[in-house]
Amino acid sequence: MTTNSLDTGPSNRLAAGPLGRGITWLIGPRGLRDSQRLHREVDGKVAVVTGASYGLGEATARMLADAGATVVLGARSIDQLEVVVAEIKQAGGSAVAIPLDLASEDSIESFAEQILTQFGRVDYLVHNAGKSLRRSIHLSYDRPKDLNASTAANYIGPMRLTLALLPSMRERGSGHIVNVSTVGVLFPVAPKWGFYLSSKAAFDIWMRAVGMEARADGVTLTTFYAGAMFTRMSAPSGWISAMPGHSAREAGYIIARAIVKKPRTLTPAYGRPSAVLAALLQNPLEIGAGLLYRRLGDTRASLAGVAKGAGDVA
Ligand SMILES: NC(=O)c1ccc[n+]([C@@H]2O[C@H](COP(=O)([O-])OP(=O)(O)OC[C@H]3O[C@@H](n4cnc5c(N)ncnc54)[C@H](OP(=O)(O)O)[C@@H]3O)[C@@H](O)[C@H]2O)c1
Repeated sequence: MTTNSLDTGPSNRLAAGPLGRGITWLIGPRGLRDSQRLHREVDGKVAVVTGASYGLGEATARMLADAGATVVLGARSIDQLEVVVAEIKQAGGSAVAIPLDLASEDSIESFAEQILTQFGRVDYLVHNAGKSLRRSIHLSYDRPKDLNASTAANYIGPMRLTLALLPSMRERGSGHIVNVSTVGVLFPVAPKWGFYLSSKAAFDIWMRAVGMEARADGVTLTTFYAGAMFTRMSAPSGWISAMPGHSAREAGYIIARAIVKKPRTLTPAYGRPSAVLAALLQNPLEIGAGLLYRRLGDTRASLAGVAKGAGDVA
């Protein structure tokens, strides 16, 4: 098994070229590439990264371990986690792989218990694991896993994990939580994205409400409204790979900014204006999107994915 998820890049020459890179840099958010500052912040601390088997989670785990943190990597693909942990250790870092299935209450409980028994503390909790789904609702009528997998990975599971780890962070009076959300929750609502966007939006709201309460006890929160990232998640969507966006490594530097500077939010420049327009123009935008959906229908990829029983298809 290889860790090639970090090699996923834009498929399109425009996105990969200087223009695409320049646009990505301009719209941000920009990462923190000051390794000394990151080292001063995280050295000797304990960082928990969910969804660390691939993509942004893997990149974040490697970066934090490089900077001196002891990193707990959680995900379902334990073999893949072990490969990443072995490579981190080989490079002189400190890391441990613990299986985590956000769809299982027992798995979350055991994950949190093992962390607190082994390390006694959590300094950084990066809620990165996520499950994307873009599919017409009629294709999900007979697929309960569409509902279960997305709500578990994006909403219920991260809530349970927060409930398990937050008390110890508040008791110690310190800690920082990073929630990797999506800029899509700031956009106008779009057909086919119901499960993914509603579960990401629900956790965003829950986490921000909790963050307001926990801040008084020294536990801070950054919500990263991520734009396009070239990972396993976006790979099936040709149109995402063709847009300006971040590689997993570059997005990892944005998590570094979140951990060092602890801003309340990190969002691409178009995120806030989109949210304002979405609120102001809700009716015309929804009418337009509905008409477009009826005209375009389902992509061949969605239909093939449902036929094959694949989980997420764009
Ligand atoms: N890629 C984008 O364009 C994009 C844009 C905006 C926001 N995001 C967000 O960025 C985050 C990282 O995504 P990515 O692009 O790096 O995707 P990715 O490469 O597909 O990684 C997703 C990670 O989540 C883990 N995961 C999924 N379901 C899980 C479950 N039930 N329990 C535990 N772990 C689970 C996966 O591990 P296992 O399969 O091994 O469990 C994997 O490590 C996600 O929250 C995503 O919503 C991505």
